[in-house]
Amino acid sequence: MVDANGQVSSSKGNITMFTGKGGVGKTTCAAAAALYHASSEERTLAISTDATPSLSHIFEVASDEKPTMVRKSLYINELGVEEVKEMWDKKFGKEVYEVFSSFVAIDYVEFVEFMTSVLPGLSDEFMVDYIKELSRKGEYKAIVWDTAPLGQTLALLKTPALLGRHLRMAPRIYSKLRLGQRRREPILDIIRRWERLSADNMDFLSSMVSFVMVTIPEALAVEQLEGIFRELNEYGLKVQQLIINNVVKEEDSDFLLTKARQQKNYLELIYDRYSDLPIIELPMFPYELKGLDRLKEVERILFP
Ligand SMILES: Nc1ncnc2c1ncn2[C@@H]1O[C@H](COP(=O)(O)OP(=O)(O)OP(=O)(O)O)[C@@H](O)[C@H]1O
Ligand SMILES: [Mg+2]
Repeated sequence: MVDANGQVSSSKGNITMFTGKGGVGKTTCAAAAALYHASSEERTLAISTDATPSLSHIFEVASDEKPTMVRKSLYINELGVEEVKEMWDKKFGKEVYEVFSSFVAIDYVEFVEFMTSVLPGLSDEFMVDYIKELSRKGEYKAIVWDTAPLGQTLALLKTPALLGRHLRMAPRIYSKLRLGQRRREPILDIIRRWERLSADNMDFLSSMVSFVMVTIPEALAVEQLEGIFRELNEYGLKVQQLIINNVVKEEDSDFLLTKARQQKNYLELIYDRYSDLPIIELPMFPYELKGLDRLKEVERILFP
């Protein structure tokens, strides 16, 4: 993954987000990228905001420690629901809860569950915030961010707007309940603070994070790409690199020959549509890409 400066992420804050639809190889590419950075002695963190712990699986580590050291300079951290709830607590949870609970009988755990279900991108919002803080602390020289399938990543982008809409209803509910001016102020403060946080997070995403899109040469994946690019563009987020994964390179059976022929059309389409982007092909391997040795092979292709 090379640009004029030698690597794709060097132009920004050395934070790279791997994104794309489900199962296309985001975690595999993110892990290989993390290995690449760690190999040059840069203290590197591979972080996932995916509910399923796939980084520890691919690096074959089993530890409850967070972050976990994989090898020298390489750490992984898988943020789960619990961590997100903690972040919520620290930033806003109690305040928003106090306001809500003054007119709805709801306990705190239920409240957090309610909020995260109403706003699917909410947990991601806090994860962006977490990664932003992490990058500001400067503890790691490189951060590789493995995301959940794209549906959720896009929900994340919409969260600030959704949140604003939801929270703006609150004062109206208040006025209906005739709770008076004094109690309406705090929630407006919270909304303003939240909007600032969201704007700050969006700035962070567009100025510090490099986006790498992973796709495969298949009908549905190619069809969906266009929309994903458009949506990212709307938020001022630019994809810096495209990886086409699972490309059949050895056509030594009828099966593979047929598959390769089918892929050819989609490959041409991708090269045609995204000619302004650096594109790297990752071949389809005959084995599972798991463990450092296998990931090293992927690394050599992504970072020639
Ligand atoms: N080039 C490849 N050749 C062979 N197998 C691959 C290749 N790339 C990925 N795989 C395998 O495909 C599966 C899915 O890959 P991976 O977990 O990286 O995808 P993902 O995009 O992160 O999926 P999810 O959206 O579920 O998080 C894994 O078992 C992985 O080992
Ligand atoms: Mg994954």
